[in-house]
Amino acid sequence: MKNKIVAGNWKMNNDKEQTKSLLNKLNSYKIPDDVRVIVAPSYTHLDQSIQMLKGTQISVAAQNMNAASSGAFTGEVSAAMLKSIGVNSVIIGHSERRSLYHESDEILNNKVKSAIESDMEIIFCFGEELDDRKSGRQFEIINKQLSSTLFNMSELDWKKIVLAYEPVWAIGTGETASPSQAQEMHAYIRKIISNRYNDNLANNVSILYGGSVKPSNVKEIFKGSDVNGGLIGGASLNADDFMAIVNAF
Ligand code: PGA
Repeated sequence: MKNKIVAGNWKMNNDKEQTKSLLNKLNSYKIPDDVRVIVAPSYTHLDQSIQMLKGTQISVAAQNMNAASSGAFTGEVSAAMLKSIGVNSVIIGHSERRSLYHESDEILNNKVKSAIESDMEIIFCFGEELDDRKSGRQFEIINKQLSSTLFNMSELDWKKIVLAYEPVWAIGTGETASPSQAQEMHAYIRKIISNRYNDNLANNVSILYGGSVKPSNVKEIFKGSDVNGGLIGGASLNADDFMAIVNAF
């Protein structure tokens, strides 16, 4: 699964018409054969996006899901519901879900298990806060976040996992990790995966970088030998910017 991936997290943006217009623009671009492109619109526009992207190189992910398969969970959406409309990927663990909606490692671990049971691909996000980085605890934090959410998965389960390292201090702030900070952390992530599992698994998992990636800084970030692509927020809302990133490898 290790390949070049660029995923756009649209967050709570774009109504029906805006979704249509953005997808039409994205569809007008030629995408390099070796890059996987994913977009994550809001729940309300997933079905429309699936229809509009049929037969293209762009696939669709949900931004979230509930760990339960069904039941009395007002306002929630299950993996089975997503699968039933053709959504086969889901973002889990985004820092906004962790901080604004109090999603703990335990909740995230349950979501990961549920997504795997439903045979969904997971784009799993994690990252340290500014204070952690300032006090030099970033590696310890990342180790803890991954150990408590993903390291109880089987080797086979990892075939469905894409990692997205997103330092919280770089998300939506205009501040990015430097290319060397990103590369350093990605190499560390491979090392701890190799220690827990093996080199083969560690070398084959795709690790995306996220946090204020834009056309002007993406080339340097993607040069990192352990950086397999990006999870893009703000810049994914503009087709030209997003496609500049897709073409930046
Ligand atoms: P950003 O968001 O690119 O706007 O910083 C990234 C993300 O939240 O995934």
